[in-house]
Amino acid sequence: MNCFEGKTVWITGASSGIGEALAYEYSGLGAWVILSARRENELERVKAACAHSDRCTVTPLDLADQQQLETAADRMLQQFGAIDILVNNGGVSQRSLAIETGVDVDRRIMEVDYFSGVTLAKKLLPAMVAKGSGHIVAISSIVGMFGFPLRSAYSAAKHAMHGFYESVWAELHTQGIRVTVVCPGRILTDVSRHALVGDGTLYGKMDHGQAGGITAQTCARKIIKAVRKNKKETYIGKTDLLMIWFKRYIPCLYYLLVSKVQPR
Ligand SMILES: NC(=O)c1ccc[n+]([C@@H]2O[C@H](COP(=O)([O-])OP(=O)(O)OC[C@H]3O[C@@H](n4cnc5c(N)ncnc54)[C@H](OP(=O)(O)O)[C@@H]3O)[C@@H](O)[C@H]2O)c1
Repeated sequence: MNCFEGKTVWITGASSGIGEALAYEYSGLGAWVILSARRENELERVKAACAHSDRCTVTPLDLADQQQLETAADRMLQQFGAIDILVNNGGVSQRSLAIETGVDVDRRIMEVDYFSGVTLAKKLLPAMVAKGSGHIVAISSIVGMFGFPLRSAYSAAKHAMHGFYESVWAELHTQGIRVTVVCPGRILTDVSRHALVGDGTLYGKMDHGQAGGITAQTCARKIIKAVRKNKKETYIGKTDLLMIWFKRYIPCLYYLLVSKVQPR
């Protein structure tokens, strides 16, 4: 059964990678899709390629700008009433050592990867609660489960997501609110090209790990399956997922392996 037909799905980071792939999948399933990111031309390209572009709304915004997030949320609530599914996907990664990373860059990554989702969730949850249903999907990462070289701020922001969304679930699940935290491993997208280095400029390179990752389309399909099954947490990847289990069940092996990673 297609439970997404006619549902309103707001996807941040919909201009590329996993968010773009999610837009195509949800549109194909008959959902009304709201596409957000900064690059409006890319959002229009994604909209045009959606199965039902007449049921897509492009809402450009900067996830680092709280005012823009609140204004966009008010507009979407006015236009659609309660949003059925919010996918907090938009984010930026990091490729720099902690000691070489300016605190302004740590703060920017926290704003984009963590606080933006918190802001949107807080704006949308009251209408979801009033309706008695709603699903928040938070795209974390496997490094939201363990630390990793060159990812200090990114890993911290992703760890923070787990605490926030698990707590929201604990508080609101009896009122019809569902929460799914997604931890992808390496996915073949431009995430490393868009990652920040210590001075806040772009890393600009395709990492070997990303290049060998699973496709964004496969990732999107697995995310939707997890949402349909109302999973609270899900992991998507290949052998990179093993690190989650090592950290949890054989921590000394995790510490050994992570100490051998060559940061450069
Ligand atoms: N690819 C992986 O291996 C991997 C693994 C684990 C987790 N993830 C997570 O998956 C999510 C999607 O990443 P991706 O792999 O699809 O990478 P991506 O292709 O670089 O996509 C990132 C998306 O976030 C948007 N974004 C970035 N900064 C923004 C800002 N300040 N305001 C608004 N939108 C912003 C980008 O749009 P604009 O540039 O147009 O604003 C883009 O649509 C991220 O949360 C990432 O951390 C990815």
